[in-house]
Amino acid sequence: MMDHYRAVLAANDRGGYTVPTHGLYPFQWNWDSAFVAMGFATFDIDRALTELERLVEGQWDDGMIPHIIFHQPADSYFPGPDVWRTGHRIPTSGITQPPVFGYALAFVAARAGTAQEERIGRLYRAAIANLRWWRRARDPEALGLVAVLHNWETGRDNSPEWDRPFARVPETTDTPIRRRDTSHVDAAMRPTDADYRRYIHLVDAYARVGWDPARMWAVAPFKVADIGINAILSASAEALIELAERHSGGGDAAWLKETSTAAFPWSERAQCFVSLDLIDGQPLEVATSAGFLPLLTGSPTNAQADRLARHVETCLERGLLPVPSTLPGQPGYEPKRYWRGPVWAVVNWMIARGFVRHGRPDIARRLDATLAQAIDRIGPCEYFDPETGEGLGGGAFSWTAAIRLLLAEAAEAASIAS
Ligand code: DGY
Repeated sequence: MMDHYRAVLAANDRGGYTVPTHGLYPFQWNWDSAFVAMGFATFDIDRALTELERLVEGQWDDGMIPHIIFHQPADSYFPGPDVWRTGHRIPTSGITQPPVFGYALAFVAARAGTAQEERIGRLYRAAIANLRWWRRARDPEALGLVAVLHNWETGRDNSPEWDRPFARVPETTDTPIRRRDTSHVDAAMRPTDADYRRYIHLVDAYARVGWDPARMWAVAPFKVADIGINAILSASAEALIELAERHSGGGDAAWLKETSTAAFPWSERAQCFVSLDLIDGQPLEVATSAGFLPLLTGSPTNAQADRLARHVETCLERGLLPVPSTLPGQPGYEPKRYWRGPVWAVVNWMIARGFVRHGRPDIARRLDATLAQAIDRIGPCEYFDPETGEGLGGGAFSWTAAIRLLLAEAAEAASIAS
């Protein structure tokens, strides 16, 4: 059966990099590729490293890794390079995405042995430059949490967390909007037209200041410390500490340790970790699957991990597929609309790894098993309705296939251990 999931990766391979899915997403996406590299690492280390190498071909001189690398032209996606106008030597977008790259590199490197040291060394330096960019460009006021300036950077574009801060963004655009996503996927499963006007307003605003980080920071009408990104950044920093011993003579290790410890905002109302609106300083108190991701780090207390485990148990008791991207009952929950409710395999996989870290392998096993069953039943679609288990969004999705390969490997390791 795993051959089927490997075949999905092969079909989406465009020459050393993997598109998320045919048509809807015809380029290389940043965090998609990090998960895909880990999936490849279950059977082909060389190809896993190539995926990461093709991604950093698009890295900017200041360390930023763009969210899209436009390796080849394609007209099935909007907004393309003509809208981004970044002027980079390889056409890229001008914003980034969750920094899973460092975590994925450490994951691949742990299986690579010493034969690939040079390649890993180069990727390690790219990962460090990227983490330093996050700290410098996106926490210039040294708050201890990094910020995003566009919802697309969070990867969770239309999560209800962003409803309040995003309402400040005007709907006016210089660029005509020619959505292509709704010709591939039912519009009811995608962000709205008003969302798109605001997404493109932000792109226009940052293009106007030449994608310069300090000027973007100064003009940004949207500035949030996303809990997902901050947790992933810490997890990547921690994962890279071992490589630092080998590739920087240990010189980066202290900085990585410091970067891997952060105090994440917790909401009693939502009973989970939450994002912060940096324009009004207020927490965005919505319980989302990203609010579980601090489990990847050492930060949560036992009591917090218990509360998060309780959310998973409640979903299972109610016959819901855990963990909905927005928990049912939260304002803005919609079970079929992109990040307002559907379950995403990559987030579940990270949450389960987090529960293992926090001494709850039973919860992790249940998360892994329900997700594996959902994928096997429907196929590796983009996301799942938590209420019906229906497959939604794009089909034959690379990162969902990659996660299924990782789940199979984890299940095999557990059965050998037991
Ligand atoms: C999209 O186009 O849907 C993406 O989420 C932006 O990266």
